[in-house]
Amino acid sequence: MATSDYSDSVKLYAARRHEAQFSGNIPASERPVVHLGSRIGWMNDPNGFSIYKGQYHLFYQYHPFESVWGPMHWGHAVSDDLVHWEHLPAALAPDERYDSSGVFSGSALELADGRHLLMYTGLAMTGRNPDGTSANRQVQCIAYGDGVDYKKYDGNPVLDESQLPEGASAQDFRDPKIWMDEKGTFHCVLGSLDADGSGQILQYRSVNAISWEFEGVLASNNGRYGVMWECPDTFVLDGKQVLLVSPQDMLPEGNEFMSGNGTLALIGSLDEGTCSLVEEATQAIDYGIDFYATQTLLTTDGRRVMVAWMQNWDTTFVGGGRPWFGQMTLPRELHVRDGRLYQWPVREIEAARRNRVAYEGVMVEGLCELDGVRGRCVDLSLAVRSADEGDSYSEFFVRFAQRGRYRSTICFRTKDRSLMINRKHSGLRRAVVKDRKCKLLSYDGTLRLRIILDRYSMEVFVGEGEQAMTMTITTDPSFDTITFYAEGKAIMDVEKYDLV
Ligand code: FRU
Repeated sequence: MATSDYSDSVKLYAARRHEAQFSGNIPASERPVVHLGSRIGWMNDPNGFSIYKGQYHLFYQYHPFESVWGPMHWGHAVSDDLVHWEHLPAALAPDERYDSSGVFSGSALELADGRHLLMYTGLAMTGRNPDGTSANRQVQCIAYGDGVDYKKYDGNPVLDESQLPEGASAQDFRDPKIWMDEKGTFHCVLGSLDADGSGQILQYRSVNAISWEFEGVLASNNGRYGVMWECPDTFVLDGKQVLLVSPQDMLPEGNEFMSGNGTLALIGSLDEGTCSLVEEATQAIDYGIDFYATQTLLTTDGRRVMVAWMQNWDTTFVGGGRPWFGQMTLPRELHVRDGRLYQWPVREIEAARRNRVAYEGVMVEGLCELDGVRGRCVDLSLAVRSADEGDSYSEFFVRFAQRGRYRSTICFRTKDRSLMINRKHSGLRRAVVKDRKCKLLSYDGTLRLRIILDRYSMEVFVGEGEQAMTMTITTDPSFDTITFYAEGKAIMDVEKYDLV
């Protein structure tokens, strides 16, 4: 038996024993309702988002022993509806020479022979660089499994520095996203740093997912958006080639990008000769605070669905002290329209809605609270317009997770069509990013918002999904008042459901 067999892996056994012993002590009332959170300990990137034997599988970067980042394992969960998740035992542990410092991000596929294939980055610390900084080696590895237990391939790594293009770094070479084309050939894209230290996305192909051949540089950052590009994913959607990446070390750019870790969609067409993306448009994927490391799958009915880590690296200590840390966004259905990425909560969420409350034509002048409109796990849709033509309201607020001095807000300002999310009074006790703003791309005089609240998060989708803003909050989940406020006179339609 190979040492990587789960029953023989001391590290995987320890992780599974730890989660079995302690995760049940976390009451369901202290977990998100319609979002996947870490089973116990730390979670970052979504990994291996795939369909296997008719179920959705979502793995994640995982450090079960503490609520801070540490030697990476893969946590594992399954779902029938993309909304409610069941935790499974940890799938992978850093137990081999080539991944001894971490089983980093990767992806998954169902193979024709019935096995579930995982492809991930193995991290091993290798001593010191000439300048004294610590050195590492990042290689690509595979594992096969049955949906619960996974065995690493004996011939790992399957892709290493010997297959890098000239000048590319072996220390930043990670996060394979694998897919199979119509002819049955495997492909994967990977994040990499080029000779100038700028991000690039490399594409490889393989007939068996074991021997890989370099296909080309799909996209080059050329110093434009941050430095290293992590967690790439590429697919054809609505006739366009889309590449999603998560750049590190961004500089702010107007309201489009904030500093730190960001997300970027590049939309264009594929030059098949050179295997490179001909870019037509670029944009941020989400305009909120907590959103990183996207990954998509294709549903059997042809929908391209994306999840992301609902967190940001620079704010990872917010919420510390809890036995679990880290959540995924709600899966979002994607479309490309007029060169822009649209996102909308996956339609399966509609089956989780209860207790519809709806109002039409409510006049909001100053503060407004509506009977039946409250809660911390809700799907709330609003349409807001001015009461009188020519005499517009100037600002409109939705306040939620309120009690006493606590509240979070979404604020729309008509003058500059800006939408702001703010968690300053959510109970934060840390000097971290508290608000974020974007300018509405389309506005016909009616503000349309769909707001998904869960116990520890808020996601707002604008219009038909042309913009989205996401943030986490740590406010006591029993603080559930929702109010509206208009500076001036606004007319509002509201539809609200509880999410269960
Ligand atoms: C992105 C990332 C990946 C890496 C993983 C490590 O958030 O840095 O590039 O594989 O997290 O946990």
